[in-house]
Amino acid sequence: MYTQLQLRDSARPPVNVASLRKMKEQGEKISCITCYDASYAALVDAAGIDVVLVGDSLGMVIQGHDTTVPVTLENVIYHCKAVAKGLYRPFLMADMPFMTYTSREQALQNAVRLMQEGGAKMVKLEGGAGQAEIVEFLASHDIAVCAHLGLRPQSVHKTGGFRVQGREEAAAEQMRQDAKLLQDAGADIVLLECVPSALGKRITSELHVPVIGIGAGPDTDGQILVIYDVLDVTPGRKPRFVQNFQQGHDSPLAALEAYGKAVRDKSYPAPEHCF
Ligand code: KIV
Repeated sequence: MYTQLQLRDSARPPVNVASLRKMKEQGEKISCITCYDASYAALVDAAGIDVVLVGDSLGMVIQGHDTTVPVTLENVIYHCKAVAKGLYRPFLMADMPFMTYTSREQALQNAVRLMQEGGAKMVKLEGGAGQAEIVEFLASHDIAVCAHLGLRPQSVHKTGGFRVQGREEAAAEQMRQDAKLLQDAGADIVLLECVPSALGKRITSELHVPVIGIGAGPDTDGQILVIYDVLDVTPGRKPRFVQNFQQGHDSPLAALEAYGKAVRDKSYPAPEHCF
């Protein structure tokens, strides 16, 4: 079926890499959220969220691990398949788990599985300059890639925990260079996690691809949060950048709509969510 053609002129055309780039150019904020199953995916779609990530955060919020390290490719494919079933308009991105992109060939093979079996339209991988070769290889095979910089949860055992990154001048400069390098290698989105707002703003202004932030301040092109944090399902202490959107709303759909609206009208993130 020529679904793409049929949907292109519909009132709710599906989001794609080109429309995300246009949103950046027009200064329209991009709303993103993680999701792990078909029911929440349908709500996220109904709430008008632009991008959905099947994140390896599933290792923590679904499987109950302390980190994302135990998550496998099969786990992400399983959840991605379910999420894809619930989505129509949002752009679907899937995480490449720990150690599934250690060589160009391995990365290509696994990205293809996420797309063909999982239904993902973009893959996300963590890392700086060291991943440029992998990003370039995937991009040369026309695979859409998101490069995740700043706090990289797959590396916490090496970097020393879940901490704000890029506070020192040298680290901030390195991250700026890495972001540019990854964009030039073919990354279509750069995601910044837990960085000072000033650095989030600077990197966003220096790149032509959309920059999505989580704890990266108000000036990135878009925001992403873990869905269970938005809905206040995650128990215990939450990261500083989290806002409970369920508060004051009587359904998960209303909370998701409030999140999307707050991203678009820039009321989220507020100063108390930033570093
Ligand atoms: O795995 C994940 O959910 C993520 C987001 C927190 C950005 O990478």
